[in-house]
Amino acid sequence: MQIIQVTGIEGTDRLTVGRLTLKRLSAADAPAIAAHLKRLVEFDRYSRFFSAMSDDGIDRYVAGFDWSRMIATGLYQSDTLIGIAELGWEAGAHTQDSANSTNGRPPDIAEMAVSVDSAYRHLGIAAWLVNETVRRGRKAGIRRMEASWIGGNDPIAKIMRRLEAQVWLNGSHWHGIAPLA
Ligand SMILES: CC(C)(COP(=O)(O)OP(=O)(O)OC[C@H]1O[C@@H](n2cnc3c(N)ncnc32)[C@H](O)[C@@H]1OP(=O)(O)O)[C@@H](O)C(=O)NCCC(=O)NCCS
Repeated sequence: MQIIQVTGIEGTDRLTVGRLTLKRLSAADAPAIAAHLKRLVEFDRYSRFFSAMSDDGIDRYVAGFDWSRMIATGLYQSDTLIGIAELGWEAGAHTQDSANSTNGRPPDIAEMAVSVDSAYRHLGIAAWLVNETVRRGRKAGIRRMEASWIGGNDPIAKIMRRLEAQVWLNGSHWHGIAPLA
């Protein structure tokens, strides 16, 4: 089964269809983000963070978000956040060209991360959330998107290759950089 995909939340921060809400995430969503990440089992946490991650570690990770340096899109089913895609960048990861920036200079490169609750996988939700986040990243002027994944994480490899990423094996992890500009 493929979930119905509605493209774009252009001009709005939220789109609701039935019990599903696609939404630009903000600091107000932090508790739901932490709850979503804590539902990931050990292996998924390793796939997402490349190290063991405790519930306390997830709380610290989410509390450390700098919302001025990230773009995140989430899918809620009723009040439960079932998937997140985010683009985050380091302070100073800027281009020289500020023409397309919506908030100061856009970053040259941002790192993508995505996760989906296990009960909702293989429905295209990760690809959908990444596409939505990429669309907004492009609009903000981000030029390149990078991602890392462990071998066997085929959905991420597929999503990155579809975005025309150059992909290589970097030690024990795969790494890809996709052009957004
Ligand atoms: C990786 C993850 C986000 C994928 O979520 P998902 O919603 O199941 O992914 P999608 O359904 O959007 O699948 C994306 C693509 O991969 C394909 N795919 C999905 N599962 C696959 C599998 N096991 N093997 C091969 N391809 C697969 C899908 O068919 C889809 O391609 P398509 O659009 O051509 O059909 C999810 O498994 C997860 O949360 N894992 C734990 C966290 C993690 O690993 N994050 C990635 C590191 S940043």
